[in-house]
Amino acid sequence: SRTIYLDGQWLPEAEAKVSAFDRGFLMGDAIYEVTCVLDGALLDYPGHAARLRRSAAELQLTLPLDDDELLALHHEIVARNNMSSGMIYLQLSRGAAERDFAFPPEGTPPTLFLFTQEKDVLVNPAADKGISVALVPDLRWGRRDIKTVQLLYPSMAKMEAKSRGADDAWLVEDGFVTEGSAATAHIVNADGVLVTRDLSAALLPGVTRAAILELAAEHGVTIEERAFTPDEARAAREAFITSATNFVVPVVKIDGETIGNGIPGDLTRAMRAAYIETRR
Ligand code: PDD
Repeated sequence: SRTIYLDGQWLPEAEAKVSAFDRGFLMGDAIYEVTCVLDGALLDYPGHAARLRRSAAELQLTLPLDDDELLALHHEIVARNNMSSGMIYLQLSRGAAERDFAFPPEGTPPTLFLFTQEKDVLVNPAADKGISVALVPDLRWGRRDIKTVQLLYPSMAKMEAKSRGADDAWLVEDGFVTEGSAATAHIVNADGVLVTRDLSAALLPGVTRAAILELAAEHGVTIEERAFTPDEARAAREAFITSATNFVVPVVKIDGETIGNGIPGDLTRAMRAAYIETRR
């Protein structure tokens, strides 16, 4: 059984219990991060730590650890679980308090929870074959730049995509793709330009997105950070998604229409290979 971290204690997973009054449970008042582990090492940790601090600050949540303690906690959970590859999930909620829309009194201790999932992240059939996506309206709240646990709509969107025979959803708002249900959306157009949406409150600032943009620039790829339409995506030469646990995964079909020649694109594959190579 896994060893998890909960509020300063290391526990067997079955002993990890949180109050039913926790605001994460009652109000979705919590943030999270997912960091990938490869060969026992943390991938792009600084980006995840920085985004966690930013999410906390935007919601006036206090992270009860300094930077060194937070990093030490990540290392310790890897060591305690003998992890070689997989992911670390971290969740911080505003803690347990009497139900009230107002935040609880200062001094209410937050709930900090970390667990691991062992998985060979390098073995991924979706990365070899590519995935199909369905376009689904983006009905999430207006602060998607904050990584909150309000994941009901992304979960519904994924189910809607599956019911339409696709692997996942690409969310659309005001005629533009925002992102995937749990990943950043990218296309490569007919001119070989990598198009990815510019950062705003409309989408999560993906840590893997930033890494891929850096690698693409090093490869001499022209990058346009702007919103793109479903029509542009359908006409693209390549499409792919990025996330901490999946790295780069090709998208080969959008709403049943084949992208490019229906197989993972060259730039997509090059970006996946470059990401893995630079992170090992
Ligand atoms: N999801 N957009 C959304 C809505 C996400 O939930 C995620 C990550 C991303 C990609 O961000 P990053 O590259 O930093 O992982 C974009 C995580 C993996 C999850 O919820 O499991």
